[in-house]
Amino acid sequence: MTKNWAQWHEDYDNPNSWLAQRLEIVQRDLRRALVHAPCDPDGTRRLISICAGEGRDVLPVLADDDHGYAVRALLVELDQNLSQRARTTAATLGLSNVEVATADAGEVEVYRSVTPAHVIMACGVFGNISSDDIQRTIATLPVLLTVGGIVIWTRGLLDNGYDPSLEVRRCLEKHGFAELSFSSPAGSRNRVGMHQLSAHPAYAAPVHSCTRIFDFL
Ligand SMILES: C[S@@+](CC[C@H](N)C(=O)[O-])C[C@H]1O[C@@H](n2cnc3c(N)ncnc32)[C@H](O)[C@@H]1O
Repeated sequence: MTKNWAQWHEDYDNPNSWLAQRLEIVQRDLRRALVHAPCDPDGTRRLISICAGEGRDVLPVLADDDHGYAVRALLVELDQNLSQRARTTAATLGLSNVEVATADAGEVEVYRSVTPAHVIMACGVFGNISSDDIQRTIATLPVLLTVGGIVIWTRGLLDNGYDPSLEVRRCLEKHGFAELSFSSPAGSRNRVGMHQLSAHPAYAAPVHSCTRIFDFL
């Protein structure tokens, strides 16, 4: 049975939930990334959100008038209702440079129009795919990002106390990323990382030669 992702999103509405607490960290990191990531000569940054859900992390930040971020964003979400909610929110916030694709984010081809990206959001992804797929997805990030590009990711602590974010951090390092920040608030299972691509690894293949990178479990 597939998980009810619409219901999962409801926790965002409870300010005391782990998800609302994670959101604060993710949005703080995204604001930093939108200042520190490289950009095109005209100041534009391209952003990808993998498995974007309702876009609750990205859309309010992009709409933040005080900063006037120049961002072209692609949010990829498989679920029709959730992606439509993201689309409606983007329209309500006046974000004309945000595209929401109702599509399979495991297919690399879907990102082609916004690569190389300057920022990639991979939140709520690594906890739902196999270890092999985590490795494959991380190995593909350098293909999708420009050098200096930033990925923001999450991976929660397990019930048995094991912390799988350690593997994610090791794998990112192996694939040419340097850690900009890692948040593990005391008493919380939330783990949020922000990594920057230092250089394209020699193996980085062109986007068109990559195909499937993950399936949700
Ligand atoms: C844990 S939620 C994360 C949502 C969002 N990134 C966030 O952190 O608020 C995972 C989302 O991935 C979506 N999803 C699952 N498989 C997918 C796929 N193959 N392609 C795109 N989205 C997918 C689900 O519908 C769900 O909205």
